[in-house]
Amino acid sequence: MPDLSIDFAGIKSPNPFWLASAPPTNSGYQVMKAYDAGWGGAVWKTLGMPTINVSSRYAATNYRDTRISGFSNIELISDRPLEDNLREMREVTKRFPNHATIASLMVDTREQWIDIIKMVEDAGANGIELNFGCPHGMCERGMGSAVGQDPKALKTIVEWVMDAASIPVITKLSPNISHITDPGIAAVEAKTDAISLINTIKSIVGIDLDSYAPYPVVDGKGTNGGYCGPAVKPIAMHMLKELKKHPLIKDTPISGIGGIENWRDVVEYILLGATSVQVCTAAMHYGFGIVRGMEDGLKRFMSEKGYNTIYDFAGKALPNVMEWKDLNLKYDVKANINSDKCIGCDLCYIACDDGAHQAIALPTDGSRIPSIIEENCVGCNLCSLVCPVEECITMVQKDDGTKHNTWQQLTDSEEIPCTWNDDRAGGKGHYVPEPIKALESVRKDRSGARAK
Ligand SMILES: Cc1cc2nc3c(=O)[nH]c(=O)nc-3n(C[C@H](O)[C@H](O)[C@H](O)COP(=O)(O)O)c2cc1C
Ligand code: SF4
Ligand code: SF4
Repeated sequence: MPDLSIDFAGIKSPNPFWLASAPPTNSGYQVMKAYDAGWGGAVWKTLGMPTINVSSRYAATNYRDTRISGFSNIELISDRPLEDNLREMREVTKRFPNHATIASLMVDTREQWIDIIKMVEDAGANGIELNFGCPHGMCERGMGSAVGQDPKALKTIVEWVMDAASIPVITKLSPNISHITDPGIAAVEAKTDAISLINTIKSIVGIDLDSYAPYPVVDGKGTNGGYCGPAVKPIAMHMLKELKKHPLIKDTPISGIGGIENWRDVVEYILLGATSVQVCTAAMHYGFGIVRGMEDGLKRFMSEKGYNTIYDFAGKALPNVMEWKDLNLKYDVKANINSDKCIGCDLCYIACDDGAHQAIALPTDGSRIPSIIEENCVGCNLCSLVCPVEECITMVQKDDGTKHNTWQQLTDSEEIPCTWNDDRAGGKGHYVPEPIKALESVRKDRSGARAK
């Protein structure tokens, strides 16, 4: 049976599933309920100075039938009295001493940091997370993402905290920055014990067509929110990879956050080097029960692959994440349509003809099955992505696997093409129809092109 327990920079947890600092960790009631449901840790809703929240606070992007494919909020840090939070934290840490109860903090001056660190340590917190990410409200007061976007300020504050804290410190980074490695290096130079990312992405998810105000609308007005949920997972995973591949940062434990809602998401984050994961939007959408599916799925994956602990596969995808210049230019795939599965919807034809390389032909034999024109197909994947039938269009390798050449190798051997007439130039030989052919279609093209 795989062992899911972790020791994350000295913070022990029965499993890598933590709730992120957010509404689901707003109270002792919720954190205890979550631990009872199976979560291994919880980063308490950020504690700091007295504040006031607005109503309303949340908005979402609903993509077609998928509700909350992205989530936005303009909420601030905890608006509950600090002493209530500390009392409840003490109760939770006493009752669940083997869980990872982490205090998320955001204050301003050095004295305030020293005071609040002492308070959460007294309340039994197992670790501290520094919120340098909130991209609304708090940043206007010089905190949150205002610090996360300023590596120098971030380094100074992490140094204050490291001086004052006797429990492990996780620096939570803001994604609202061009190079995530800049604050990452600053945090490591300040000797943070660990890093977590991402906090929310500055965004406007929509405009109300009556009030002309951005969502969520507050008395006819709005502001930018922080975006999270499934839509941000690709951005978060890229940032995780950037940190995990950086020589100065790669050995620092990282807690991965952003769009995680099932076991597969968890495995992907671990493969990119995260050794704990945090969840907010999915817990708000579906409740604490989702952790059961995560645990079952992670255990099944580990058993199937023969892993005993998550450290056996943490980071295993990293060597496969290269720079473009190191990809094999000789690898060659082409689309293949499985005629037994095809339902003749033409979506692949429309996508390839209008949006790719005119490499799919409509049938002329009275059937509804399109065919691939192999010599035109560049293997871009688009048709297989739009095809609504699972495994109907597959990409088939056409090279014999013996040849390998990269742009870097071509550069090193001074063989990169310098003119378009060079045989090695990518564009040469790519078929495209004559422009006038677009107006000469002889049969009804169901994409909407004019029939002749
Ligand atoms: C309503 C809401 C409130 C949040 N409050 C905090 C907070 O107080 N402190 C913090 O560090 N992050 C806060 N976050 C950010 C989350 O902890 C997390 O970094 C982000 O939502 C990405 O994870 P997700 O995609 O699983 O939601 C909040 C997020 C939401 C949606
Ligand atoms: S892989 Fe790209 S080029 Fe090839 S048939 Fe599909 S859409 Fe067209
Ligand atoms: S998109 Fe898929 S199902 Fe539709 S015509 Fe193309 S191959 Fe067939």
